[in-house]
Amino acid sequence: MQVSPTFEVRNLRFEVDRSIPKFWQGGPKGVSLFLDNLSTLFPPGERFFMRAVRHFQDRVEDPTLRADVRAFHGQEAMHTREHRRYNDHLLSHDLPADVLEAEVAKLLELVERVLPKRWQLAATVALEHYTALLADILLDDPTLLAQAHPELAELWRWHAVEEGEHKHVAFDVYELAGGNYPERVGIMILASVIFWAVVAEQQVRLMKAADIHLSAKEWREFFTYMFVKPAPLRKLAIPFLRFFKPGFHPNQIPSTPAVEAWKAKRDAAMAAVAN
Ligand SMILES: [Fe+2]
Ligand SMILES: [Fe+2]
Repeated sequence: MQVSPTFEVRNLRFEVDRSIPKFWQGGPKGVSLFLDNLSTLFPPGERFFMRAVRHFQDRVEDPTLRADVRAFHGQEAMHTREHRRYNDHLLSHDLPADVLEAEVAKLLELVERVLPKRWQLAATVALEHYTALLADILLDDPTLLAQAHPELAELWRWHAVEEGEHKHVAFDVYELAGGNYPERVGIMILASVIFWAVVAEQQVRLMKAADIHLSAKEWREFFTYMFVKPAPLRKLAIPFLRFFKPGFHPNQIPSTPAVEAWKAKRDAAMAAVAN
């Protein structure tokens, strides 16, 4: 008998077209570009995650975790597909998403050539911690997407919900692969340095492509939004540090109630379509 996964794979498609403005988030211009920035990381990043998990997934014997691993691949494949379409749309606004994506893919190919397989899985665990936390912050504060274009706002909410749902998968596989605390935290530090360096460098390039990189006002508004109010990146700090606790598991951090609210709303919409 096929065991069901603990979460669903939702094959959603979003209408990402030219009607979406360049600064679609509705707040400071740099915030739209920051989300675009993260979007360029997803197609190469999530493919890397899938390869890292796939290498060790034969060690999983628990039928529910096996089902969750399958669903993890399903969710990440859908995210990759939709972020690819999102990133293609960015080109129509003269934002060089293709170049950024290709560079990230090259960097990850290098990582795959030089790092042992289990370190690659540890890097996946580290970056999935970031995606789960950022997802929770994005869903928990409704003001972040309140002024956003509805289609991209929904794409981000869908992705955020699913990152929360599968946040345990890479971690559980890593434990079965013989992962250990010093390696987990060591790779987290390394992955964090590289992750934030890439994000910072890409942010400057996207601001430049949008011709706002020399505007002190744009940078001030961007940093104020990110770190002062509503401060999504400042909210990252405390839950981020929980990763360094021995015995940490991603499910120890409860998801925001907004996740259940999103699912209920979606179920109601699906039921309305079916009737
Ligand atoms: Fe994802
Ligand atoms: Fe993920």
